[in-house]
Amino acid sequence: MWHSFSTLTVLLLHGLFSICLCELPPPDKSYKILMLLPLSSRSHENVFLPLAKALADRRHEVTMIKNSDMNSRHPRIHEIRHNLDYADPSKLNLGEAWGTMDVILKFFDEDFPKLARDLYKVPKVAQIFKRRQEFDVVIIDHLFNEMAFPFAHERPLILLSPAGLESSTSGLLGNVLNPSYTFTHQAFFRNPMTFVERLRNLVAHFIQYTMYNINVLPKIQAEISEQFPDLPSLMDIKKNVSLTLLNSDHTYDTSVPLLPSQVEIGGIQCRPAKPLPKDLSAWIEGSGNEGVIYFSFGSVARGSNIPQKYLDIFVAAFAQIPQRVIWKFENETLPGISENVLLRKWLPQQDILAQEKVKVFITHGGMMSTQEGIYHGTPLLALPIFGDQPRNCDMISAKGYGLCLRWEDFTVDVFVSKLKEIIEDKRYSQRVAATSLVFRDKKDSPVDRAVWWTEYVIRHQGAPSLECPGRHLSWTEFLLIDVIFLLHVVVFVVVWLLLKCKRGVGSILWSASKKKNE
Ligand SMILES: *[C@@H]1O[C@H](CO)[C@@H](O)[C@H](O)[C@H]1NC(C)=O
Repeated sequence: MWHSFSTLTVLLLHGLFSICLCELPPPDKSYKILMLLPLSSRSHENVFLPLAKALADRRHEVTMIKNSDMNSRHPRIHEIRHNLDYADPSKLNLGEAWGTMDVILKFFDEDFPKLARDLYKVPKVAQIFKRRQEFDVVIIDHLFNEMAFPFAHERPLILLSPAGLESSTSGLLGNVLNPSYTFTHQAFFRNPMTFVERLRNLVAHFIQYTMYNINVLPKIQAEISEQFPDLPSLMDIKKNVSLTLLNSDHTYDTSVPLLPSQVEIGGIQCRPAKPLPKDLSAWIEGSGNEGVIYFSFGSVARGSNIPQKYLDIFVAAFAQIPQRVIWKFENETLPGISENVLLRKWLPQQDILAQEKVKVFITHGGMMSTQEGIYHGTPLLALPIFGDQPRNCDMISAKGYGLCLRWEDFTVDVFVSKLKEIIEDKRYSQRVAATSLVFRDKKDSPVDRAVWWTEYVIRHQGAPSLECPGRHLSWTEFLLIDVIFLLHVVVFVVVWLLLKCKRGVGSILWSASKKKNE
């Protein structure tokens, strides 16, 4: 009874939202859309869901292959869990390797190929694979989901990139990012960069390409080739992508040249605040003039994973500060925690960040959290753990949205003084508030943009007119190495001929003057 009631409410809400939010004309047809995120964290799913819901609200049928237990409860979204639980990043034990790449590298090396081997053996997945021709478009999670590319063979393909623009994929599509001012997922510097920074950034671009494509991808390819010997390579299927939806936005990051097929939808999960539950809003109100600090390490880096030595520092630091703290922490209690700290397993992050009294957001610097902080105008204190987080944290400090703190510098005193600096120096809150304004100032919403482009790719059977010819060139052709080589040869020959002539003319003149003198 309760279940059907809540389904009814959800349906009503969906109805309301599709009337209120969507400004697009109704679609001419109902499409079948396949979304694949077999290896993804909840945060990636949070980028997929707003698009899936918006498409389903427009009467398209959406099928999702994924592994989390999140549930959209939408009648036209068919969620299929593959239940291969080793492929769940939220089950990573970050404890021992906190702040290093070790766990992630092992995950890359062992679990990705394993997933490529096992995925198509899951009966529900195999069934969908068999009838993949029925789908009008395939949307794949861009990061680390190459094992899903066989689904996209001979189908229009869209990549959705939860971590934003990625240099090696962009290069594959013909838009080679210039390392003199664009960044990878590894590093962020303040533009204009110094000589040394440009050198380091060039190396970062190189590593971004080689690390994964040379070390991990061949292992996934081997597993896939064994099962599907007749398919083109995963890279060739990827190269045929029609559209890349980028979860990033130049307003808070970096303005870079994009192809017509690279569309920014950054902040698709961001939304205006809803009213808070009574107990939370009372807790926040009760903080008086000192205000509140909100602390969450997102979905992959659970609070209960934090090594004890760092937990001790958090506990000691929070006991010293006059602010109240709301901490997303997965255990019921934490020994020694002071009374100004409220622990909760789950929190409505965006509704909290939007509160005037929330002065700082302590974050791991994940892309989604960073966006939500900026969107709601809350300054950030970032403690990066892995992946693109160090890069996002450097962006946060370079752009003045807050400060970055590395684990090797993490002590009670440094932590407390950084919090104090962000709260007392108004430049951080002003900077982030100003950026929030431009970030929101768009002629359409990110959801509408993503929906429009998805339908566009379907309407035009993959929209080949979007394709940049650069993607079919070899690197010697792309960089005009052959032409530059020829020009060098021409210049060399001309100079050589001139020198030869000069010598010839010189010797004629010489012998002429000699004759005259005689
Ligand atoms: C490439 O994409 C087009 C349109 O999106 C599709 O029709 C074609 O079959 C794809 N080719 C391959 C080899 O997947």
